[in-house]
Formats: sequence, C-alpha cells, structure tokens
Amino acid sequence: MTKVIAVVNQKGGVGKTTTAINVGAGLAKHGRSVLLIDMDSQGNLSRGLGCKAKRGQHTIRDTLISVGNNNLTNPFKGIVTNKSEHLDIMPANRQLFGFERSMIENEDAPFLLNRFVNCVRSRYDYILIDCSPSLGILTQNALVAADSVMIPVDPEFFGLEGVKVITDTMELVRKNMNSGLSLEGIVITRRNNVSIAKRTNAEALRQKFGDKVYKTELPSSVKASEAAACGMSLLRYQSWNHLAKAYASLVEEVLANERQ
Ligand SMILES: Nc1ncnc2c1ncn2[C@@H]1O[C@H](COP(=O)(O)OP(=O)(O)OP(=O)(O)O)[C@@H](O)[C@H]1O
Ligand SMILES: [Mg+2]
Repeated sequence: MTKVIAVVNQKGGVGKTTTAINVGAGLAKHGRSVLLIDMDSQGNLSRGLGCKAKRGQHTIRDTLISVGNNNLTNPFKGIVTNKSEHLDIMPANRQLFGFERSMIENEDAPFLLNRFVNCVRSRYDYILIDCSPSLGILTQNALVAADSVMIPVDPEFFGLEGVKVITDTMELVRKNMNSGLSLEGIVITRRNNVSIAKRTNAEALRQKFGDKVYKTELPSSVKASEAAACGMSLLRYQSWNHLAKAYASLVEEVLANERQ
C-alpha cells in the first residue's frame, strides 16, 4: 500500500528538505519505489538531487494548473528520474510562488495536489512531499494529499508550542478536508552542541508525543550541505558519515511503521 508523507514545519531551515531527500533515498535503497514532490518555490529539493528545473521545464506548478483546469492528461508529465538514487522527483522552481498567490481566491485550491497524487499513487510505495517553511496554501495542499505528517524539529528554537501550531493545523485539516491524516513522527534534528534549552525542549516533546518521536536524533554535520551542493543525498555522498548513519536508522524506523 502506498504511503504519502508530508514533511512539514513552518520554521525555516530545520531540515525538512534534507530529511525528505535522505529518507526518500534510504527507502529507495530498501527497494521501495519513491516519488519526491517539491512543494517549495525555493526548489531546494529539486536542486539537492541535481534536477534544478530549467526555464520552461514542466514543474509541479504546471501539473497543479492542469488539475485546476481539469485537463491533466498525463499525470506523470514532468516527473524526473534520478537513476543513481532510484528516485522519481516532481520538481519545483520560483514560478510556484506566483502560482501560490494566484490560488488564494480559489475555493478548489487546497485539493489540487491531492487530485494529482491520487492519479500517480498506485505507481509508488512512498510519496514524500517537501513543504515550504509556511502553513500557507501549498502546505495545506500537502496536508490534504497526505496520509501522514513527518515533523523535523530543532528543539533549540522550536519546542512544544511550535509543534502544537502544526498539530492544530492538522486537526483543522482532519475536520474539514482529510479525515485520515495522521502523525507519522517527529524527528529531532541538530542534536549536537547540546544546550539546556534544547535538552529540555526535546524531553518535553518526548513526554507529550511518546513513541511518535523517533528514537533516532539527527546530529549536525557540515556534510549535509556539501551533499546538497553536489546534488546528491548524503546517503549516497558519504554513507559512512554520522548523519548519514542516523538517516539510515531513521529509515529503519519509518519502515517499521510501514503498515500503520
Ligand atoms: N543535520 C544537519 N546538520 C547540519 N546542517 C544541516 C543538517 N540538516 C540540514 N542541514 C543544512 O541546513 C540547511 C537547511 O536545511 P534544509 O534545507 O533541509 O532545511 P528546511 O527546513 O528544508 O529549510 P526551508 O525551511 O528553507 O525549506 C541546509 O543548508 C542543509 O544542508
Ligand atoms: Mg526546505
């Protein structure tokens, strides 16, 4: 059965994109077929896997426009395959920003991504959606299309209150648009340079969310940005790196929840 996971946090720079890329790459290493959808006009996921969308290239924005116009004749159009990583990617670029603004008045707007995902989901075991640092209409689309939500959290800057904003938003989506939406898991990032605030916040998260917080915590590593600059997952760039190993163990936890 396919699982669609949105990687969400309105706070910027917490590791959403790095997590989407490396969890996706890890699942692919375990033989799962994976589609990564870039739902951020920054296009970092696309760039981080070496498939920066060129001018005129079909991106997720074009797909969403076609869905809105009821003429999505080929839902696979625009999906790029990264053969070395065994990953399919639906890229995004800056144009998604203009599209986001144009959707504000459209009642149908939150459902567009879901309609696309429903057309392609049977082809994949996992679909991971990398969201922008906001809870705006693009992230809302991801929450409507997803089965579950993965929240990367840097407890130094973002404790319980921040996560509550996301879980409250999920609750609203559950009530009105996607009753099946669940919490996949919370992943604590940048575990190193331990500060008291960080430890306290991390413990508070574990107390509140119990086993929904992954055992694996993601340490800090400069190799994360090096790998992204080379257009590769860290798992491929330097599989022996401590952060890569942490991602591999996070993937084991995701696989253990596969049937939930
Ligand atoms: N564990 C880590 N250790 C050190 N650097 C990291 C780690 N994870 C990610 N980074 C780096 O931190 C920066 C932000 O990470 P990333 O892009 O994954 O965050 P994001 O939440 O997707 O950001 P945005 O909200 O802007 O989309 C990137 O340069 C990335 O390479
Ligand atoms: Mg990102």
